[in-house]
Amino acid sequence: MAATLLFVLGLGSLGAEAPDYEFFREKVQPVLLAKRQGHARCVACHIHRIPPLQPLKNGATGWNDEESRQNFLAWKAFVTPADPMKSPVLLHPLAEAAGGDRFHAGGKHFKSREDPEWKTLAAWARGEKLAPRAASAVVRVLQSNAAGDDIHVVDPATNEVVGKIEDIEVPHGLVISPDGRRIYVTNEARVTLDIVEAKSLRVAKRIPLSGRPNNVDVSKDGRFVYVGIAEAPGAVDVIDANAGRNIKSVPVKGAIHNVYVTPDGKFTVAGSIPEKTISVIDTASNELAWTLTLSAGIRPMAFTTNADGSTKEIVVQLSDFHGFALVDFATRKEIRRVTLPDPPGQEKETHGLQGSPAHGLAITPDGRMLWSTSKYYDYIAAYSLPDLKLLKVVPVGHHPEWLTIPPDGKLVYCAVAGNETMVAVDNRTMQVVKAIPVGAVPKRNASGVLRLD
Ligand code: HEC
Repeated sequence: MAATLLFVLGLGSLGAEAPDYEFFREKVQPVLLAKRQGHARCVACHIHRIPPLQPLKNGATGWNDEESRQNFLAWKAFVTPADPMKSPVLLHPLAEAAGGDRFHAGGKHFKSREDPEWKTLAAWARGEKLAPRAASAVVRVLQSNAAGDDIHVVDPATNEVVGKIEDIEVPHGLVISPDGRRIYVTNEARVTLDIVEAKSLRVAKRIPLSGRPNNVDVSKDGRFVYVGIAEAPGAVDVIDANAGRNIKSVPVKGAIHNVYVTPDGKFTVAGSIPEKTISVIDTASNELAWTLTLSAGIRPMAFTTNADGSTKEIVVQLSDFHGFALVDFATRKEIRRVTLPDPPGQEKETHGLQGSPAHGLAITPDGRMLWSTSKYYDYIAAYSLPDLKLLKVVPVGHHPEWLTIPPDGKLVYCAVAGNETMVAVDNRTMQVVKAIPVGAVPKRNASGVLRLD
């Protein structure tokens, strides 16, 4: 049994590859259908001759998948696997002078072995396969460059930059639409929400906003895009994604920095730095539902969930606080604060903190781990959830900013503003995997599935 298996495997790797179905369907069948001057088409005869081709139904110009498979099986029998270049499928329609056989009742269609159509048949007989087609849905990590005019697109499988979104000067926030076909980016320079087509990475439309924007999020059904307006008196603009129009400015308390749709999609949560207030908008009505004022400016937030998916807590970073607070969503009260560790002997960074010693949070998709950045000490720190035990401190570089975790939860990506890199850290080993060079002052980032078809 084992010996037979080895023998079969050995043959497969030493000898020619078996003729490939996809290659036959995409490349060989067009040769069998093509009209060559002075010759009847292969298909014209071989519907009635061996090797058979399936009849073309009702004026069809080609075959469906099932018919193609039948054609494939019939024509594969005229390939000689042990010596592909001697296959009847190659020698029968080839001129004798070029090494073809004596006679084919269908004629000699190809005068030389250099004929491109004959070379296609030969490639198939040798077992050539189609070049792998680009997958239509891909996971990408997007890193905006806060002092630049672009956004870097990274493939998390290789951690290489695979594209760039250009022509957005001072991009602030960004989010991928739930269907993966668009990227919404807030444009501080133009005061617009820019709709970027995922396939081309080009700006397709710019929608005017009621004031200078900060961050952005999208409803789970993709219908509404919420933009935080960072000018007094403060608002959250609601953009109808299908119509591509700004339909409403929800008045909230204070200029808005960050805005998030909760994991269950029921609320949009906006934070104000000057008014120290969290404003919660009901996404069913797009009306303000409740507010909560804390002791300091509201910075990045993240959300823990109950077993039913509803929001349990808001994890929130605050102005001039080296850590994060927890707000109980049901009782609307702050219940806990966690201070990030001061690594012994390490000098505190005080330059360019922009009032925010900790400015970046992310929770793994399984809900078991929370990451926070420290701009004081150039690290990111991992905490277990729900018990909030410090697991590890991972140095990443100057001025770590936002964090994002792609859907598979393997890596966390940290924008390192001072080093112009995005650093990938393994969520299991908690080791730095790679520092990926990006653009000028990288800050907000996002990740998810992009559709390229
Ligand atoms: C005018 C009708 C006609 C056309 C056009 C035609 N054939 Fe044929 N073909 C035949 C007939 C009849 C036979 C059986 C007699 C023979 O082998 O010559 C045959 C036999 C074959 C065989 C079987 C050889 C074997 O060893 O038995 C192959 C392979 C083949 N043709 C390939 C092609 C290809 C490829 C084309 C187009 C490039 C083509 N034929 C075009 C009529 C045609």
